[in-house]
Amino acid sequence: MSKETSDVIKLRNLGKTKIKITPIGQGVMQFAGGTTFMKFMYPALTDQESNAIVKTALDGGINWFDTAEAYGFGLSEEKLSKGLQAAGVEDKDVVIATKWMPMMRRAKSIRETIANRIKHLHPYSIDLHQIHMPYSLSSFQKQFDAMADILEQGHIKSIGISNFSAKQMIKAHEILEEKGLVLASNQVNYSLIKRNIESNGVLDAAKELGITIISWSPLQRGILSGKFHKDEEMFKNQSSMRRLRSKKQIKESQQLIETLESIAKSHKATIAQVALNWLVNFHGKTVVAIPGSTKAKQAKSNAEVMKLKLSKSELSEIDKVSKQFL
Ligand SMILES: NC(=O)c1ccc[n+]([C@@H]2O[C@H](COP(=O)([O-])OP(=O)(O)OC[C@H]3O[C@@H](n4cnc5c(N)ncnc54)[C@H](OP(=O)(O)O)[C@@H]3O)[C@@H](O)[C@H]2O)c1
Repeated sequence: MSKETSDVIKLRNLGKTKIKITPIGQGVMQFAGGTTFMKFMYPALTDQESNAIVKTALDGGINWFDTAEAYGFGLSEEKLSKGLQAAGVEDKDVVIATKWMPMMRRAKSIRETIANRIKHLHPYSIDLHQIHMPYSLSSFQKQFDAMADILEQGHIKSIGISNFSAKQMIKAHEILEEKGLVLASNQVNYSLIKRNIESNGVLDAAKELGITIISWSPLQRGILSGKFHKDEEMFKNQSSMRRLRSKKQIKESQQLIETLESIAKSHKATIAQVALNWLVNFHGKTVVAIPGSTKAKQAKSNAEVMKLKLSKSELSEIDKVSKQFL
């Protein structure tokens, strides 16, 4: 990150770890587009396209990337590594988060699959390893025993979870605390039209325990850019999986989009930028977001969110119009 950029963008600690991250990270699930179940959501990206997304995100000041085993079983991780290498980035200058897929698997698979994560991400190390969802065949105790083992062996630098409820997150925190370790983060679907973590205890517990909330689908798969509100044809051309549930969300968020647009205009910003800025600022430093991109220009626009300054009254106004999504 250049000096000029680092003066504007304030880094945050990832949970209670010493790892420093920017409020906006880059989600790279889209790098597995065209394969596995991802093909129902996103088209394949060439290396040229994914490299451009990585380079643009870095140039915009973003210092971390989120990928997962489940995103093409190594494809997203590999394309991320290729993009970072093409951009000439050294391991020490980037933070990488990946995930273990627990479905139909036991905890021992955490130890068995870490070599694959390392291979696909080579030469970059894993700063955060997350349990993708709370659905393993093994107990939480066994899963966190395995995560603690690979941490002690130096394969990963911190431990996180994803899609865990408040109760499950507190349990994970307690198991790790007993080992003298911290739970760094919980990655959940959180956006201006999906605010249930504010009412189901996840956000309160995260604030109390110093756990970072990583918001996935922070634009609710593009809906919060307002583009589908304005262009019905564009929405109709989306894959069926992306259209699922989205029609209702688009209808219900009309007033919210109008408010975001009016605030955006006064800052010469976009609707998406205002929506992301609210997400990473309304709750202090607890929430960070990882918008995904299919185009470099989206990564550029999303990185610029970190330079936008909304007033307290603008943040409250947005809060008010989106309260129906709590
Ligand atoms: N832990 C989990 O269970 C989980 C689940 C899902 C995702 N994730 C993570 O979260 C990341 C983000 O989630 P997501 O990709 O589902 O949702 P998202 O970030 O809300 O939406 C991404 C999509 O929105 C559009 N978009 C992005 N920036 C835009 C901009 N500035 N203006 C207009 N449109 C824009 C693009 O779609 P088009 O160009 O295709 O229209 C892009 O593919 C993923 O990459 C992944 O790392 C985690």
